[in-house]
Amino acid sequence: MILSRLPVILSLTSLVVAQNCTLQFDGRVPADLAALDFDAPNDIFSESFVIGQGLTFSKALRLLPVGAGSLFDLDAGAEPVEVLISDDSIFNNQVGFRRAELIPASNNGADASTQGVKTLHFSVLKDVVRPLNLSHEYQLAFLESADFSTNQFVLKTGTILGQNTADPDTLQLFGSVNDGQLLFSTAFTPGTFHNFALKLDFNALTTQVFFSRGEDALVSVTDALQNDVSGQGQFHFGLLKKPVGGVGDITKNGFQPAGINEGITYGGIFQEDSADGCISLTP
Ligand SMILES: *[C@@H]1O[C@H](CO)[C@@H](O)[C@H](O)[C@H]1NC(C)=O
Ligand SMILES: *[C@@H]1O[C@H](CO)[C@@H](O)[C@H](O)[C@H]1NC(C)=O
Repeated sequence: MILSRLPVILSLTSLVVAQNCTLQFDGRVPADLAALDFDAPNDIFSESFVIGQGLTFSKALRLLPVGAGSLFDLDAGAEPVEVLISDDSIFNNQVGFRRAELIPASNNGADASTQGVKTLHFSVLKDVVRPLNLSHEYQLAFLESADFSTNQFVLKTGTILGQNTADPDTLQLFGSVNDGQLLFSTAFTPGTFHNFALKLDFNALTTQVFFSRGEDALVSVTDALQNDVSGQGQFHFGLLKKPVGGVGDITKNGFQPAGINEGITYGGIFQEDSADGCISLTP
């Protein structure tokens, strides 16, 4: 019995062997960086977008100790970074939204991060001291197309607008807004990182989801699903809080209660080239 299972065990082992794929960008924050460093041009994230008018990233970010890092931060000695929103997190006069999002520094919308076959890694952790208001819909990570017409994937939580959300305390990963396909969902558990890797095939127009919690190795949780990831654009990591009761253009109307003090912690943001099949399931 055990012998007959041996080949299976061996092939699983070879899958989880650490491999260092070629990186497209690395958003893991070196321990010698401080929040203030994100107000000026840096190699990690854009210093300009997306942040409330008159705010700076140093006021919207909180760096956590290296030891609090996610799966792919720990060996790399990287600091997880919390993204915060307040009543002032109004970007570009979008008074219906509250938002603050990190965009990788090299991701200008027309770069190679949205070409070929790439795997996007990121991890998210709740802040129990600065909880989200689950009466609202939040986007926590997404790719926005270069012409701003769509999101090719969106990780959401809370009460999703226009849907019957059974449990708003859920992470729901949707494919392109154009068809609204739910790719994967899982409980948003306090006290642990939720690790995602999205294998984005910009030629075949598919998305395959890998997931784990804590320090567990990533496992494939979907096939390579048809999903229109065309249109290039920028990857966003942070909070985009939508209003309740909005009509029409909800960037401009709807209700946002005052006194917002909310955050989500991000770790292990990086992207690797998977054109040759390389994907890191462990560090
Ligand atoms: C991968 O990179 C890490 C960090 O630089 C290094 O410690 C490790 O030896 C590398 N692994 C391989 C297989 O090259
Ligand atoms: C959460 O949001 C709802 C809808 O905007 C609001 O009525 C409620 O007061 C909010 N709760 C808190 C604790 O802010």
